[in-house]
Order: sequence, then structure tokens, then C-alpha cells
Amino acid sequence: MFVGPDEEFIRRYGDRPSPGESVLDGSGRTALPGFVDPHTHLPWAGLRESEFNERLKGRTYAEIAAAGGGIVSTVATTRAASEADLAALVRSRLDRMLLHGTTYCEAKTGYGLDLANETKQLHAVFSGSAGHPVGVVATALPGHEVPPERRGSAALRARYVDECCREILPALAQKGASFVDVFCETGVFDIAESRRMLEAGAGCGLRARVHADELTPLGGANLAAEVGAISADHLLYVRPDGIEAMARAGVVAVLLPGTSAFLRMDRYAPAREMIESGVAVALATDCNPGSSYTESLPAVAFFATLGMGMTVEETLTAMTLNAAASLGVAGERGSLEEGKVGDVVLIDGPSVEHIVYHYGVNVVTDVVVAGTPVVRDGRRVP
Ligand code: NIG
Ligand code: FE
Repeated sequence: MFVGPDEEFIRRYGDRPSPGESVLDGSGRTALPGFVDPHTHLPWAGLRESEFNERLKGRTYAEIAAAGGGIVSTVATTRAASEADLAALVRSRLDRMLLHGTTYCEAKTGYGLDLANETKQLHAVFSGSAGHPVGVVATALPGHEVPPERRGSAALRARYVDECCREILPALAQKGASFVDVFCETGVFDIAESRRMLEAGAGCGLRARVHADELTPLGGANLAAEVGAISADHLLYVRPDGIEAMARAGVVAVLLPGTSAFLRMDRYAPAREMIESGVAVALATDCNPGSSYTESLPAVAFFATLGMGMTVEETLTAMTLNAAASLGVAGERGSLEEGKVGDVVLIDGPSVEHIVYHYGVNVVTDVVVAGTPVVRDGRRVP
């Protein structure tokens, strides 16, 4: 991509478009880098809207999960879906992401929880995104929960962790996953189990990212730093020593403030403390049916500013360049710079503030992916 003054552009490329090129007039609008969403759970089937209302009546996420809702209910509906069903769902979610300015994202497995269904989810990520303008990179998350059929005894549960390490993660790596993730949480996978899965993933070439310190201060951030993870995500309960460890090890904090609000948590991740400690902060939607059902990064930006007190500039950096860094692609994506991929978003408004200031509506009017316009005036280019 070229970035610079008109005179320099004209000197290099001439003063009128070549055949097949077009001019996008951004007058009165603001150009931003394509948004990067580094934490989603895209390949799932089935919705859980009744849980939203139950939380409004006072039940917590943990209580709902213990009563048979939560992740395991989505595991049942995702296992029942075909790969083609899941691929179509992935594609429709990518379509909505694109209309809201996302041009590159991560997508996790984690609602299959056995070899066949985790593989089906991974295939659905690839077939659903094939030829789609939004670039997608996949994360293997068989360590999202203990599958319901493995909860009878400690031995059954230990066998599942073994199976993740020996069979499922190597298979998903071989089929094209780039990252390994684990839900490191009290009552889900403890530090030792999480470490085993992250190390097993690393052994087959998967870089680690961690669902860390989301509901309790278990020390997932410290674990992320110890295993050299590229990101630690959620972090509502991150401890001060966890923040220090992340800063020292260069782990990117992927924050999901939409999830805090959606689950009616009484807190957000301490974004300000992390930024002041030198941790790179990124933002993501966490798009999933239980804890954050949105494809819109600008919606998340709203909670990042008003919930976590991040400035508009910090928020934009977090949903572009730092998000790209958390996926290992900051050299090619995440900013409008000469030599990077030409992913550009135009928003309806004369300044960057409009991304959060004009709230509750889609301010993204145009999206360009690798130099090609794919959304114009709010509609997909056919
Ligand atoms: O990132 N924290 C664990 N996993 C998801 C929630 C998934 C679900 O509720 O279905 C999350 O918030
Ligand atoms: Fe998540």
C-alpha cells in the first residue's frame, strides 16, 4: 500500500486511475486500518438467548453453566451440526464482521471436545472462510471445557487431558491450526493441566494463547508468560505479579470488555494498569453464543472506552496494530503504512472519535481488502 501526499502519489503512479482501478472519495470520512479481531469462537451452532434474560433475573454465568447451560449446551448443538452447517454459520458471521470493519480475525474450535468434532469445527473454519475477504487464522481449543462424558471421575478427566495432548492437538496442528488455547480457570483446567496442553501444542508448532484469570485470580497470566504465549486473554482478575510477568515476557493482553458487560460482571480487566506497566493491550469481540454475541469490534470499543477508561486512540491501536501483534502479523497488518497489506476502513465522520461517539449504529461505510473495495456505502460489493 502507498501512504502519503497526493503529489508523491501522482509522481509515482500518474494522475488518473488505470483500467480496473477506482477512486474512493473519503471526503468527510475518516480512514482507519482494517480492524483485527484476535479472539472469536466462530464455528458454533445454537444460540443461548434465554441465559441473557436469566442473568438479568440475577443468576450468574457459573450458576447457569452448573445447571446444564453454558459451554456444554453449545457443545451438544455443535456436535449435532454438520460441517456444512457450521461452515455456513462461519460465513454469515464473517459477513457481519466485514460490514463492521473487521478484515482479519482468529477463530477457535472448542465446542467439539473430541477428535471428530474438534476436527469438524476446524474444517468448518477453513471451508466457511475460503474465498471470503476476511482473512482467518485458526486456534485449537479442545481445552475449552471437560467434555460431559468425561466428568464421572478424576481418571476420566485426566484421560481427556492426555487425549488433547497426544491426539487432538497434533491432529489439529496437522490440519492447519496456528495456535493452541486453553480455558485456564478454577473448576475448568488448572495451571498444571493448562501448562501440559500449551506445551503439547507448542511441541507440534502451535503458538500459545490463554483464556486467563477471567473469573478467578488463578495465575493464568503468569502461566502465559512462563510458556512464552503470544497472548493472555480476558484478565479481569489478573494479579499485579501477572501483569509484571506479561510485561517482561512481551505477552499481549487481549481484553474482551463486551464479555464483562454481557455477563454482568462487577469488573473489567485493569487496562490502565496494564498499559502503564508496558503491556501491549489488544481488544477482541470474543464472539460466541454464551458470553458475547457480537461480530462488531466498534461495539467492543464502546465498552473499552466507557467501561475500562481507554482513550479513543488507545482503543483504536488495540483493535488494529496490537490485535495484529497478538496474532503475529503486525509486520503486515494493523496500520496504514507503506508496504503493509492494503486493508482500509472508512467511517462516517470527520474524526476517529466517531467510532465510539456515534454509538449503537454501524459507522463503517466502506471496507477495502488488499486494495480491493469489498464494502461500499454499507453494502457488499457484488
Ligand atoms: O471466552 N471463557 C470461556 N469461553 C468463552 C465462553 C463460551 C461460552 O459461554 O460458550 C469466553 O467467554
Ligand atoms: Fe473466549
